[in-house]
Amino acid sequence: MNNIPFRLRVGNVLWQKGIQPYLFRKDPEEAHVFTIKTLREIQRSGLIPLIRFLFHGNHAHEIKNMTLVGDVVWRNKVGLAAGFDKNAEVMAVMDAFGFGSQEVGTIVPQPQKGNPKPRVFRYPKNGAIVNKYGFNSDGAIAVAENIRNTHARFHITCPIGVSLGKNKDTPDERAVDDYVSAFTTMYPVLRPGIDYIKINISSPNTPGLRALFDRLDEFLAELFEKISLIATWDVPIYLKVPPDGIAPDQYRNMVETAVRRGITALEATNTTSNPALKKEYGITEEGGLSGEPLRTLANDTLRILSVHAKAANRIDLIGVGGISCGEHAREKIELGAKAVQIYTGLVFRGPILIHEILEKLHTV
Ligand SMILES: Cc1cc2nc3c(=O)[nH]c(=O)nc-3n(C[C@H](O)[C@H](O)[C@H](O)COP(=O)(O)O)c2cc1C
Repeated sequence: MNNIPFRLRVGNVLWQKGIQPYLFRKDPEEAHVFTIKTLREIQRSGLIPLIRFLFHGNHAHEIKNMTLVGDVVWRNKVGLAAGFDKNAEVMAVMDAFGFGSQEVGTIVPQPQKGNPKPRVFRYPKNGAIVNKYGFNSDGAIAVAENIRNTHARFHITCPIGVSLGKNKDTPDERAVDDYVSAFTTMYPVLRPGIDYIKINISSPNTPGLRALFDRLDEFLAELFEKISLIATWDVPIYLKVPPDGIAPDQYRNMVETAVRRGITALEATNTTSNPALKKEYGITEEGGLSGEPLRTLANDTLRILSVHAKAANRIDLIGVGGISCGEHAREKIELGAKAVQIYTGLVFRGPILIHEILEKLHTV
């Protein structure tokens, strides 16, 4: 914490003494909705420079840490993970916090409400969250409109990844159609050479979704064939991997298939619904567990993927899961990740976490 500029310290005190206690008195989903609404208002009313002043860390990092991750130039090595800005409403203000990339979504082709509430639970003692949102989304058309309008008004310098999922009602055997449909809607708002698409088949909250890993080759072959008919430039495609449910000997196959079909980066990992792990932390809620209890599992997955990714030589890894300090991010880089993403750590630690990670990685 010693290298933190005074203005960021002020921002952090504001966060720790004011903003976070206020948010944590609310139900977790209400707190999130309130946060998005407030950030949208900040974005709308021209207060972005204030956010930049209070929360955006050392600018030098942006230049020094520019990193090529799966054919996308990240502004620095810390990305915002999918699920925070599901409908791409606050991209400009999140840019001001200093993220190296942002992932919006997961979006689905048709608007859907997701699972019944309550569907998000906080565990502050364990630095954990369980969510079973089930892809609540305003739908691809509305999200594409938000992205178009935001780019028309703001100059966003970091890459935007759009995470694609499938509607709950779409039969599993037609899943690929949903990804193609969402891609078709999003493609016109992607910036060539800057943005990317992420394929999410690893959420534990949509029944049958993870089973697509069992026929990954067939799924990706069809996906890439169909999107090649739409796209006139090579859109980098990332794939998000689950932290469990995959036999250790299948990882090699997964990486080789991903490389062969054209995936440029793997994100390791999504949340886990592992009952044994939840039990260990006294968590009884259903849904995907994220934050500190996920860290070891996510790191184990990253370690295995790293061996195969090195051998394949043409795919990058992004470490995500359980990062709540700079040291945790360094761990992932040392395990073979090119960059990291955060979500739950941001909820518990606030925006200072971005700065802390960048400081730590700066000295690696
Ligand atoms: C409330 C919540 C919602 C999420 N929604 C999504 C999502 O829509 N798509 C996705 O790919 N991952 C989603 N995730 C998973 C995160 O992107 C990330 O992979 C996971 O939480 C592990 O990182 P963390 O421990 O830093 O949170 C969500 C996570 C949380 C906590």
